[in-house]
Order: sequence, then structure tokens, then C-alpha cells
Amino acid sequence: MSESMKGLKRTHRCAEVLTAEVGSTVTVMGWVQRSRNKGGLIFTDLRDRTGILQIIFEETSCGREVFEKAAELRSEFCIAVVGTLEKRSAPNSQIPTGALEVRAEQLRILSESETPPFPVEENSKTREELRLKYRFLDLRRPDLQKKIMTRSKIAAVVRQFMIENGFLEIETPTLIKSTPEGARDYLVPSRVHPGKMYALPQSPQLLKQLLMCSGYDRYFQLARCYRDEDLRADRQPEFTQIDMELSFVDVDDVIEVNERLLQRLFREILGVEVKLPIQRMTWQDAMDHYGSDKPDLRFGMQLRNVTEVVRNCGFGVFTNAIKAGGTVRGINAEGLGTMPRKKIDALTDTAKTYGAKGLAYVAIQPDGTVKSSFQKFMKPEEMDALVRAMDGKPGDLLLFAADRNKVVWDSLGAIRLELGRQLGLMKKDDYRFLWVTEFPLLEWSDEENRFKAMHHPFTMPMEEDWDKIDSDPGSVRAKAYDIVLNGTEIGGGSVRIHQSDIQKKMFEVLGLSDEVAQQRFGFLLEAFKYGVPPHAGLAYGLDRLAMIMVGADTIRDVIAFPKVKDATDLMMNAPDVVEQKQLDDLALKVDEEEARRIEAAMKK
Ligand code: AMO
Ligand code: AMP
Repeated sequence: MSESMKGLKRTHRCAEVLTAEVGSTVTVMGWVQRSRNKGGLIFTDLRDRTGILQIIFEETSCGREVFEKAAELRSEFCIAVVGTLEKRSAPNSQIPTGALEVRAEQLRILSESETPPFPVEENSKTREELRLKYRFLDLRRPDLQKKIMTRSKIAAVVRQFMIENGFLEIETPTLIKSTPEGARDYLVPSRVHPGKMYALPQSPQLLKQLLMCSGYDRYFQLARCYRDEDLRADRQPEFTQIDMELSFVDVDDVIEVNERLLQRLFREILGVEVKLPIQRMTWQDAMDHYGSDKPDLRFGMQLRNVTEVVRNCGFGVFTNAIKAGGTVRGINAEGLGTMPRKKIDALTDTAKTYGAKGLAYVAIQPDGTVKSSFQKFMKPEEMDALVRAMDGKPGDLLLFAADRNKVVWDSLGAIRLELGRQLGLMKKDDYRFLWVTEFPLLEWSDEENRFKAMHHPFTMPMEEDWDKIDSDPGSVRAKAYDIVLNGTEIGGGSVRIHQSDIQKKMFEVLGLSDEVAQQRFGFLLEAFKYGVPPHAGLAYGLDRLAMIMVGADTIRDVIAFPKVKDATDLMMNAPDVVEQKQLDDLALKVDEEEARRIEAAMKK
């Protein structure tokens, strides 16, 4: 039985009755959270996106017919109730509307519900795959609804701030040209031009630069971006950027406006006051002290470089790594000197996943003597010097990695985070912002045996380093910056190259011939011939920012319909096969054998 809403109009959402007068008639609509029949009384919890409101059905006030209908109510029925707002005789302090209830006079069952595959409740214990398959039900859960609503509010505050600060909201197309660099593109075949492909944008980067060329000197957009890369808790194949670009500015101008944006967001959404200016740290310092280009500043436990202290010691693991051009660094896990071997072994395994060959340790005993995995290789005075260099005190655990810088940073950086987690040092409501600046311009790719742009090929090198672009390209720093919050890169940007000679040189260093650069980026190079303003910009991952602001552990919680690890949408079952006719129209043929081979390889 489904009844219509004819003649009914909702007067309040559930929690909005707090603003209505006791004794007045209200019309509320929503879903049955649960319904209890206590003989002559039926108590129904009505739920909508604002909260829960108790409805009471009593035969003497609603009449027999309504009472009998109410006896049929089951979880997730969608209903409308007209009744009188009353004070509850026994208030429930657990919910905001707990002092009120609605004494029903009319009831309409707008639609019934089958028994849902899992209860719609806060902090669901149902496994995520099942919840994602029935995402439309999962999205009814109050905790998830709160997150999705907060995200909406974040977007609204962003828009308001940007417009107040002279930014124009301009949409850019999502069917564009593939400009490989960075992640893999999602491609869309063209019917009108068989064999040719559009690409979905990885970001509106080139288009926003063109908008600067066209004189729209402050642009922003909440932009859909697509990247075919491996998924993680903070990565989705499609996501949203708060994207912006400004003309006639340098690094500090971009940072200034963004600090005010962050301050406004945290104040309005969370009531948290972000102190300005936000701390800045160079990329080099971030790597040296935290082993990461996105340091979590909620706790210390910094890395220390002990290369000079152990350069001539007796432990071959250390000295050989140094001879091979590497370094030895350590962290002092204060107070963890009694960590059992098993746990140290687990940390060693973590280090190994980052390419480390092992993890050397020194556990300082309460009496000041040491237990160490490499004690037998060190003279007592060498060990003393090492402990001193690490500020080791009785009860501390010192952990060391010796290798190429990258391996040492990555492994100790990961161990630092793991220890921070184990020790509960990462409080969700402690918001530590950081600008990481002066990134390297280029990054060597062993795979491709060439330099790649660390940010993207349009990032401006630092003026003071440019003369090293031929002699030592790897040492050239960029006018690039990331904004980091609690160890997550929530945004990144740079000053762009606006001089064609520098851009040309960049392409050359990246191994892109004039021809290839023309083919891929010709439209940008062409635009740069006609008076291009100096410009710079930044983009936030809105999903990541929202994830942290709502205290979620994954961006899936702030995306209404997210994809799972293998990039499928479990609810729609996408991607899926299409009709032969659709493929024929596009002149496409699927090589089934090859498809099976690739799929099998992916599963490994
Ligand atoms: P970048 O590639 O650093 O810069 O992206 C900007 C921000 O977008 C977020 N992000 C993601 N979020 C969810 N899922 C993903 N797969 C994903 N990839 C990136 C991150 C990141 O900091 N055009 C430049 C910006 C600029 O220079 O102005 C760009 O896209 O939070
Ligand atoms: P081994 O002599 O190989 O048993 O190593 C002695 C200790 O050094 C063990 O605790 C290893 O985990 C550790 N170790 C081995 N290689 C490295 C390395 N590259 N950096 C740090 N520690 C290492």
C-alpha cells in the first residue's frame, strides 16, 4: 500500500520541531527507524536527515483506523504524520528532540519497505562491500548523512569566500585532449571521429592557465578530475578539486589568500581557529626531519642524520651504505625501550616494504646498558657516541636505517607514523597545517630512465637555481608548494612558467621533443605567444579536506557514490559491458583473449 501526499505539506523536518510551539499541529515525514507496540500505545521513531523524532500513536487520540495502520509500521517504511507537538513525560537526553514527541492524528504510509539487508544505524558494523552495494540505504545512516551534509557546507563556504575575494567561477570541459604526464588518463572514444579519443581531465591545469591568458585574472572551480591510478584510502579515480588560478602573483600571494580560506572554513564549519600564518617548511627539511613530503606535525619523533657519527664504525651495514653514497638516519622512540622483539620485527617488515634491507635497533635499558641488533659490531665508545647523537635516555628505543636517501626517508617516515599511531599521538581534532615549499623541480624515474616533472611540466623553477638546469637538473628547486594537514596532502600548486624559452627548456629536460610538445601542448604554447600574464595557482582535494574535517578515515565517507579499490562501482556495477551496436558505432573491437590476460595480471 502506497498513499499519496495529496493535501499534505511538510511543516518541519524532524529536528526542526525544536523551533515549533508545543501544542501546535505539525506535519512531519521521513523513515521509520523502529516502531514498538506497547499494547495500547505505539512508539515510532521517525528519522530524516536532521535527526529522530518520537511519534506516539494512541487509539483514543488517533482513532482505530490510524492505530491499526500504525501497528503495521516496520523499519524503513516511508511515512507522513500529522499530529500535535507535545512535551514528553519521560525525556530522552540522548537525542536533541528527546524532550518532545508528536501525538499522531493522521498517518500515511507513503511507501513500504522490504526488510533492509542491514540495519540503517549509526556506526554500522556491516561490511563495507555490502553497504556500498546498497549505498542508497547506507546513505540513510545518520553519521554518513552528517558527513555528506558537512561536505556540502564546505563547498558552500568555499564558493562564498572565493566570490567575495574576486574569483570568478568558470567551468572547463571534461571531454578534452589527452596530455599524458602524471597519472594515466581515462579515455572516451569518439563516434564522430572513429579511432580518436577524448580524455577526461586529470585536472583543469592547462585550461585554467589559458583562462589567465584570456584575462580572467582570478578563477576558481569545484572541478571533477579523473585519474586512472591505484586506489588508496585517500584516492579515488574520480574526485573533486577546489581549483584556482591567479594572475600577476607570486608564491606569497597564493599562500595568503589560501590561508584566509582555510581559516574561514575551519571557523565556520568546525569552530576551530587556525592561527595564521601557517608554518612553512622546505621540502628538504621535511624529508630530513620527517622522512616525508607531507609531515604529520601532531607529534615529534624526528629523524636524525647520524651518517657522520657512524662513518667509521665497525658495523658494515652502516659503513657500506655510506660508501655506496647513502646515509644512516635514526629515530628515537622515546620510552619504547621495552618493545618486544616481535613488535620490532613487525616494524622491520614495514621498513622492508619501503625497500629497506633491515632495521637496526638499540634498546636502552633502565640501567643505561644497551641491547642492540648490532652491538657485537660496535666498540662501546662507538655505541656511546651513537646513543648520544640520538639523545638516547634509559628506556628509549633507537631505530636506524642505512641506505639511499629515498629508502631511508621512506622507511623511517613510515615507521614514525606507525609508532605515532601505536602511541595514540594522532588526535583527530588536533589540526596541524603546514606549507611544504621549494620542492625539487624534477624527479628521476628509474623506470623511464629520464627526469619527470615532480609537480607538472608548467611549474616555474626557482630563479636562483635555474643556472644548474644543465649541469645538475636534479638539484633545481621549483616554486611549488603543498598544503599539508595532519600528514595528508590536501592541496598543491605552483607558480607557472610564463616565458616560452624556459618552457621550451623544461620540455627538453623532460625529454619531450619540440614535435611532441607541439602535438600535446601546442594550444598552450600558441597562447603564450600573445601576452601571457605571470600566474600561479593551487588545487585542493575537496574530498581529502572534507575527510579530515569530518574526522573520517577514508574519502569514501565524504563521497556519496564512491568506487572500491579495483575502481568498480558496486551499486551500479560499473564498468560493464556495452551492446555490440555501441562498440560498432565507435569502431571498437574487444580482444577477449587480451582482456582476460590483463584482468588475470591485475588480480595478482
Ligand atoms: P595535484 O595533482 O597535486 O595538483 O592535485 C591537487 C590535489 O588533489 C587531490 N588529489 C586527489 N584526491 C582524491 N583522489 C585522487 N586520486 C587525487 N589525486 C589528487 C590532492 C592533491 O593535493 N593542477 C594541479 C594543481 C595546481 O598546480 O594548481 C594538480 O592537479 O589533495
Ligand atoms: P644482519 O647482520 O644482517 O643480521 O643485520 C643486523 C641488524 O641490522 C638487523 O637488525 C637488521 O635488521 C639490520 N639491518 C640490516 N640491513 C640494514 C640496513 N640497510 N639499515 C638498517 N638496518 C639494517
